[in-house]
Amino acid sequence: MSSTSRTPLIAGNWKMNLHTAEAVALVEALKPAVAGLDSVEVVVCPTFTTLYPVAQALKGSNIALGAQNAYTKANGAYTGEIAPQMLQDVGCTWTIIGHSERRQYFNESDALLNEKLHFARKAGLKVMFCIGETLEEREGGTMNAVLTRQVVEGLKGLDAAGFAGTAIAYEPVWAIGTGVTATSQQAEDAHAFVRKLVTDHFGATIADALRIQYGGSAKPDNAAELIANPNVDGFLVGGAALKADSFAAIVKAAAGVAV
Ligand code: 13P
Repeated sequence: MSSTSRTPLIAGNWKMNLHTAEAVALVEALKPAVAGLDSVEVVVCPTFTTLYPVAQALKGSNIALGAQNAYTKANGAYTGEIAPQMLQDVGCTWTIIGHSERRQYFNESDALLNEKLHFARKAGLKVMFCIGETLEEREGGTMNAVLTRQVVEGLKGLDAAGFAGTAIAYEPVWAIGTGVTATSQQAEDAHAFVRKLVTDHFGATIADALRIQYGGSAKPDNAAELIANPNVDGFLVGGAALKADSFAAIVKAAAGVAV
C-alpha cells in the first residue's frame, strides 16, 4: 500500500511556547492559510494553558486540537497531571504521547507510555505515539533494537480499535530542534522498518492503515521530498509550527499543493 491511500497527518507540536495572545494569533493566521486543504488532516498541539482559547479560535475550521501529554487516570489525587477526559472537555481530539523530551527529561518509560496510550484510546482520544533513536544509538548500531523496543513495548496490547485512532511519529532525537533533518532515504528506511515491525507484531491490516509521521527539523523546503516516500504519512513539526507561514507551507507540501 502506498502512502496515497493514507490521509497525511500534519501536526504542530508547540512544546512549551506561546502565551495566550500569541497562540490565538497563530491559529487566526493559520486558519485561512490551510482552509480547504481537505486531503490532509491538520492538528495543533498547544500548551495546556492555551488549549481552551485555541479551541474557541479553531471553531468552524479544518484544524483539530491536540494536547502534548495525557495521564493514565480520569481524575483524583495526581497533582499536576491532566486526564484525557479533561482534554476532551476543552475540545481536544488528539494527544501526543511519548515525545522524546518526555522520555528524556521526565523519565517516562515504555511501560508508562503504554499505559498512557491505552488509557487515552479507551477515553476516545486519538494518539500520536512518538518513537525515535538518539545519535549515539544510531551510530552505535542499536537503532533497530531501540525502535523495536519502543514499538513492541509501547504499543503492547493495542487492538485494531486502538490502532484505528493511533499514529506513530518517528522522530530521530538527533534531528529534533537541531536543524539537521533526516535525509529522505534515512526517513524512508526507518519508516519502512517501523511498518515491518508493526506488520510482524500486530498484523498487515493494521500496519497498512497506520500513519507514520516524520518529526525532526521538518521544514517547508524538505517536506515535499520527505512526504514523497511511500512510508512517510505526515509530519510532527516543532519549530516550524510556531509560524503560520512555515507550518502552512508544510501542510500544503503534504497536500500536494505547490507553494
Ligand atoms: P523540530 O521540528 O523543532 O525539530 O521538533 C520536532 C519535534 O520534536 C516535534 O515533536
